Amino acid sequence: MLIKRNPNGIDLPYPSEITPRAVFESRRSFVKQVARGSIAGSALFEMAGREAFAQPASGQKLAAKVNNAYVVMDKPTAYKDATSYNNFYEFGTDKADPAHLASTLKPRPWTVSIEGEIKKPLTLDIDSLLKLAPLEERVYRLRCVEGWSMVIPWIGYSLAELIRKVEPNGNAKYIEFTSLADKKQMPGIGSRVLDWPYVEGLRLDEAMHPLTLLTLGMYGEVLPNQNGAPVRVVVPWKYGFKSAKSIVKIRFTRDQPKTAWNLAAPQEYGFYSNVNPEVDHPRWSQASERRIGEDGFFTRKRKTLMFNGYSEVASLYAGMDLRKFF
Ligand code: MTE
Repeated sequence: MLIKRNPNGIDLPYPSEITPRAVFESRRSFVKQVARGSIAGSALFEMAGREAFAQPASGQKLAAKVNNAYVVMDKPTAYKDATSYNNFYEFGTDKADPAHLASTLKPRPWTVSIEGEIKKPLTLDIDSLLKLAPLEERVYRLRCVEGWSMVIPWIGYSLAELIRKVEPNGNAKYIEFTSLADKKQMPGIGSRVLDWPYVEGLRLDEAMHPLTLLTLGMYGEVLPNQNGAPVRVVVPWKYGFKSAKSIVKIRFTRDQPKTAWNLAAPQEYGFYSNVNPEVDHPRWSQASERRIGEDGFFTRKRKTLMFNGYSEVASLYAGMDLRKFF
């Protein structure tokens, strides 16, 4: 999804960015016959993720109760893949950059300011956010607009819990997330790849949907820096870029937020950006995807599912032309 600004001002992709990783690691085959529903999410995760837990833990442990209503049955991505193949342009545009460079990010102390069209504006530090609602572990698919996907056991709670606390007023129609943009901590902020800070947004009803996760951890630990420490959102039915990392501000607005990728390339990255195999990106198909760490380079790609498989969100878009509102 990288935009290259050539000297004539025409936006071009870097081919490396739209070509999936050259060689995907092949891993031992997962227990294929998992009796659907007979294994609790946590047990499934434990089976699939044991290898991942064997990795040295970089972060502090974070306890959470598995919420089986939100656990997909796909095999979770190995921890090392989820933490070494990242998009976090504040730390560079190469997938390996965030893992190498994000150690300069200081996730504590950290505050998030919650403002705009609400009755109770608030500034919360991370400890207050951690205590705001019971922490849940949820295993979600994450589908990147570039054509790859992962399955990650996140830790957090529905963003709706926070939204209810601040009491949106009648003007609040959208919610805008702003990521940190600090040159001292983030070497990529010097680049012109995006107009910093990274801003994303949702319609208020999308933000209120119970699937939308205010995320504080993954794989049983606090968020690693490269995955958006100390707090991000995860919106699993939308392309990954809607899931803003390292959030410092949440603002409720009347008007649709001007989001970073939409501003950079409006014809390519719409405000909605729901995962939709029927609506191609102008430069590539969105019909299929490669699961990081699982699908080999020569493996046939797997089909992308409408709304990334989260069909329960369809009613949010009833009557909308999803080609127009892509
Ligand atoms: N948030 C910020 N602040 N900066 C970014 O560059 N990249 C987005 C999203 N959130 C990005 C961001 C994109 S394109 C994707 S696919 C996901 O983060 C990747 O999340 P992950 O690295 O945890 O898998």
